Amino acid sequence: MAEKIALITGANRGIGFETARQLGKAGVHVLVGARTADSGLKAIEKLAAEGIEAELLALEVNDAASREAAAKWIDQRHGRLDILVNNAGVASGAFAGPTQVDLAASIPEHELRRIFETNFFSLVEITQAVLPLLRKSEAGRIVNLASILGSLTYHATPGSPVYDAKTFAYDASKTAVNAFTIHLAYELRGTRIKVNSAHPGWVKTDMGGAAAPMDVTEGAKTSVALALLGEDGPTGGFFHLGEPLPW
Ligand SMILES: NC(=O)c1ccc[n+]([C@@H]2O[C@H](COP(=O)([O-])OP(=O)(O)OC[C@H]3O[C@@H](n4cnc5c(N)ncnc54)[C@H](OP(=O)(O)O)[C@@H]3O)[C@@H](O)[C@H]2O)c1
Repeated sequence: MAEKIALITGANRGIGFETARQLGKAGVHVLVGARTADSGLKAIEKLAAEGIEAELLALEVNDAASREAAAKWIDQRHGRLDILVNNAGVASGAFAGPTQVDLAASIPEHELRRIFETNFFSLVEITQAVLPLLRKSEAGRIVNLASILGSLTYHATPGSPVYDAKTFAYDASKTAVNAFTIHLAYELRGTRIKVNSAHPGWVKTDMGGAAAPMDVTEGAKTSVALALLGEDGPTGGFFHLGEPLPW
């Protein structure tokens, strides 16, 4: 088969853009998912300046018509998809660090639903929309951007790296992403598709905030490695820089 084709959602900025850049540098044909044409085109221009020929794919993950149109466009243009990086995500503002707390006892329902809409429901639905195209790949790879904040084991363990960082809506949405990873990987066992969850690290982006210790170059590495997994690579796992994380 020719070069691999990858769709990265929310690839116009942050970790998603850097994932597109690193995959492009690795010779993957990148489809830059962006919900506004302007931001997407700017990303395409930046990639082109580095010699990466990427294509813009209009994709508002929360819009069913947009998801269906994106899947149809990929089908008509490429006939298959090799890599899906479910990167688009939202939080309740920039992460302020391990002392930030959004209260489970009082978070407004609309905020809980807003976070789940993008981080969980749309992630499931875009995956379902392009799954027939991933099935046509010789080696389909699905990377779901979860977070260490989605680890129930860590949240339940005093002294763990996230024990005192309880941003309820975001954390629960990422726990749900991990459940999707486990279930989908199980359903796709015996196929050529691998499904894994990624924790990028605490990364300096609009979401990660200025206090984050990692830059995006490092922050995209987990997504890129899981996107390029070989046949002997894992499926149904949760990883950060090659190391497994507890669910
Ligand atoms: N940064 C961290 O420390 C960190 C840690 C753990 C996990 N993560 C996860 O890593 C992923 C990327 O995070 P980031 O730090 O790069 O975030 P970011 O800088 O805030 O970028 C988020 C990206 O998602 C896109 N997006 C949001 N809602 C969308 C929608 N409805 N449709 C399409 N695109 C949408 C944004 O597009 P617009 O520009 O149009 O808004 C943007 O491209 C997220 O899933 C996040 O939860 C990040």
